Amino acid sequence: MKKRIAVLPGDGIGKEVVKGAIEILQAVAERFGHQFYFQYGKIGGEAIDAVGTPLPDETVELCKQSDAVLLGAVGGYKWERQPVHLRPERGLLKIRKDLNLFANLRPTNYYPSLAESSPLRNEVIEGVDMVMVRELTGGLYFGKPSERTKKNGEDAVVDTLFYQRKEMQRVIKLAFELAKTRKGKVTSVDKANVLESSRMWREVAEEVGKEYPEVVLEHMLVDNAAMQMIKKPKQFDVVVTENMFGDILSDEASVLTGSLGMLPSASLSQNGPYLYEPIHGSAPDIEGKNIANPIAMMLSAAMMLRLSFGMNEEAEAVEQAVNQVLDAGYRTPDIMSFAKKKVSTTEMVEEVKATLLDNAAILN
Ligand code: NAD
Ligand code: IPM
Ligand code: MN
Repeated sequence: MKKRIAVLPGDGIGKEVVKGAIEILQAVAERFGHQFYFQYGKIGGEAIDAVGTPLPDETVELCKQSDAVLLGAVGGYKWERQPVHLRPERGLLKIRKDLNLFANLRPTNYYPSLAESSPLRNEVIEGVDMVMVRELTGGLYFGKPSERTKKNGEDAVVDTLFYQRKEMQRVIKLAFELAKTRKGKVTSVDKANVLESSRMWREVAEEVGKEYPEVVLEHMLVDNAAMQMIKKPKQFDVVVTENMFGDILSDEASVLTGSLGMLPSASLSQNGPYLYEPIHGSAPDIEGKNIANPIAMMLSAAMMLRLSFGMNEEAEAVEQAVNQVLDAGYRTPDIMSFAKKKVSTTEMVEEVKATLLDNAAILN
């Protein structure tokens, strides 16, 4: 198959991990006889420095003309004090909006070989298999007004939480569809005891749930969900929630696997192209040191193979190679471990790539 992939490395470790994912995709192409065409676009701080805006129109065009988009991460100290329209994060929010990527899937899995790296006991995390479905184009992130203001002459500020019913319906429906293919349970997370938006969210979840009698629907308040995720994570299958709650809960969920550097994501729209990015950021504290964990990015590429290209065997080959390398004891420093084989970003990529190609040789 021939596929066009838009590649937006962004800033900080985004650049480092994207490089790794491309190498893995090239190995996949070699092993399975595909042709992937990578075309690079600017986003975030890099784009601000080059052309004065965090998301140039040509990047949006490139993405729209591609079969899928791979994104590293954006942000960094350099741009932290910029006015809002010149912040790297603006570019990320805008590409999500421009591509209408309303549903962000963030799977969290149990890795037996990383169990000792989690601060949680093995019996708590063993067998964890959940997917967070995060609403991605609405809520507090996009509500207007969002600005400094005055009240009785004194400084004040407003951020608006706005959702249309149909925006809730489409993402909740997607969560139910996903649950049908999994363990058949949806946990809808909200703050319905306080927020009107959450009361509408709960209402919509109930309505959509009626169309899926085979799926169990449960509601959970977000503060309790944050606690349950650590205390009894195995109770979750599909978790669906609004934009901000999903952002926070998914970073928390990464602790179950052992590191934030392990969690991939896929952002879906009605008609594509979909976008794939790790859930972590640009990690300016470790940028340039060649120690970032590239696995979240490689697994995001695997999600792309499966969800955008229907390449199930190829996606599994990548996931399997990652698992084998972890089982063999290779670790980037973010994964706490003792007496294991400590490797750099590039060495980790090399191990996964070599394993991917070796597996092919064994099969042939
Ligand atoms: P972060 O996710 O970048 O880093 C949090 C911590 O986790 C840091 O200590 C970092 O070193 C570590 N970490 C993250 N990913 C890692 C990896 N792959 N391997 C090893 N360690 C890893 O979050 P932050 O520090 O709060 O934010 C830094 C910048 O990134 C900010 O500008 C923020 O806006 C941006 N950000 C961007 C995205 C994105 O592009 N999707 C996501 C989150 C944060
Ligand atoms: C993420 C990030 C972004 C978000 C930021 C950088 C805008 O934290 O992708 O999780 O909050 O969505
Ligand atoms: Mn986040």
